[in-house]
Amino acid sequence: MTQSTEQLKDEISRHYAAQLAQAESCCDEGIYPVEVLSRMPEGVVSFGCGNPVALASMRPGERVLDLGSGAGLDCFLAARQVGPEGSVVGVDFTPDMIERATANARKLHLANVSFRRGDIEALPFEDASFDVVMSNCVVNLAPDKDAVFREAFRVLAPGGRVMVSDILLTRSATEAEMADFALLSGCISGSLPTDEYLGKLTAAGFTGVRVDTEHEPEAGTFWYSGAVSATKPA
Ligand SMILES: C[S@@+](CC[C@H](N)C(=O)[O-])C[C@H]1O[C@@H](n2cnc3c(N)ncnc32)[C@H](O)[C@@H]1O
Repeated sequence: MTQSTEQLKDEISRHYAAQLAQAESCCDEGIYPVEVLSRMPEGVVSFGCGNPVALASMRPGERVLDLGSGAGLDCFLAARQVGPEGSVVGVDFTPDMIERATANARKLHLANVSFRRGDIEALPFEDASFDVVMSNCVVNLAPDKDAVFREAFRVLAPGGRVMVSDILLTRSATEAEMADFALLSGCISGSLPTDEYLGKLTAAGFTGVRVDTEHEPEAGTFWYSGAVSATKPA
């Protein structure tokens, strides 16, 4: 990894620690149903662009990994779906996010959720240790998306699935857009055109790779929110 990639990750992490410190309320009610959000304690905030838990339909007993888990909202929703026999682990490289998510899990008395500091490009987990890998608006921020999808494939058990909500592009970002930190840290210019993004999942070994549109591109923009899903062959 080059020095500049390390520096970029540090900057992104500091940006999200600052965002967390400023965040006041939970989430976009257009993404999560109001009744779901009303059950969350103060301190649970979302920086997501979709609702991967609703889309992944997790089953009781499943082991779930959330890439870039932030303050933990998606992990808490998944924990309810997988029940006490299942487990949910969130991984994030921002220490303040891990601290906040862990405190939130305690407030919710959820014993089947834990959070661990780590980089999604080099996951700190054994091979084949999860049934579902989900993520909400994070892969776009990773400089090495091939590594992210290779790692997701490695830690999934055969037959396991990925469910990723993310920003996708309708054209490549320009050099200037990629160099614009607000656009990059805002989850836009670090992403890829849809075909390129899906191609990286296929290259990592996944099958059944598809995208469903969560929110259409707004007029004048080159991005939209998509729900990307794929399976590791059994
Ligand atoms: C846009 S926020 C989304 C957080 C959460 N998924 C949500 O929906 O609220 C991006 C999160 O990804 C984390 N992140 C970004 N790049 C990462 C990486 N390479 N490894 C681990 N975490 C990362 C950030 O620290 C931040 O918490």
